[in-house]
Amino acid sequence: MADNLISVTGLSKQFESGDQHVTVLRELSVHLGRGESLALTGPSGSGKSTLLNVLCGLESPGSGRLAMLGQPLAGDGAPTGKALERAWCELRQSRLGVVFQDANLMPTLSLLDNIRLRARLAGRDDTSAGNWLQRLGIGELGQRYPDQVSGGQRQRAALAMVFVTRPALILADEPTGSLDRRTAETVADELFELQARHGCGLVLATHDADLAARCLHQLDLGHQGRP
Ligand SMILES: Nc1ncnc2c1ncn2[C@@H]1O[C@H](COP(=O)(O)OP(=O)(O)OP(=O)(O)O)[C@@H](O)[C@H]1O
Ligand SMILES: [Mg+2]
Repeated sequence: MADNLISVTGLSKQFESGDQHVTVLRELSVHLGRGESLALTGPSGSGKSTLLNVLCGLESPGSGRLAMLGQPLAGDGAPTGKALERAWCELRQSRLGVVFQDANLMPTLSLLDNIRLRARLAGRDDTSAGNWLQRLGIGELGQRYPDQVSGGQRQRAALAMVFVTRPALILADEPTGSLDRRTAETVADELFELQARHGCGLVLATHDADLAARCLHQLDLGHQGRP
């Protein structure tokens, strides 16, 4: 496995809004090694989610070089077209664990079946699904459907979906954002425990200064997203 999980150099990203170009990320460089953690901080609109979306292939970088887990994905040596899409899909299927601001669970499956399915898709054993729900404090909700639980409970189920695949790198957008203080601490403990035990990388976007301080590195995006 590559020692450099993330290698980003000179990354910029613009959005078009009407006839305006809004530069969200400017000449950004980010490097993350195995077992390291990085907190993305900054005010609302500063570009934290945009950067995470670029790092998981849901947004293309406007310019700059990007390599994930040693594989070039933008700039020199990167594939293009279908080959690029395939490369991102393979990464997301088993090696990248992504937790979005809106937990992306399948509405027609119970929480437990969502997690089992995710494990199987990643080629992992699905027998620990219930155990992860337990550890995240929602063990008794496994048979419920996503619309039968709260936003914070959905978010924890989405985290269990990531944990069960044991990814090389976790990208999490405000993983504790909709949780009360105590539950947020439990979830953060699990995140950092998993990271320490498996040596995976972690990038999280957060408004929580205590959570950010638990990460090895912090990157303040400041006012990057302001026009
Ligand atoms: N698809 C898009 N088209 C145009 N502008 C966009 C798009 N997505 C995001 N933006 C703009 O880019 C900027 C950065 O947004 P982003 O969601 O990355 O911020 P954030 O730091 O995650 O904020 P928050 O803390 O509120 O989650 C904002 O000004 C936002 O309005
Ligand atoms: Mg965001």
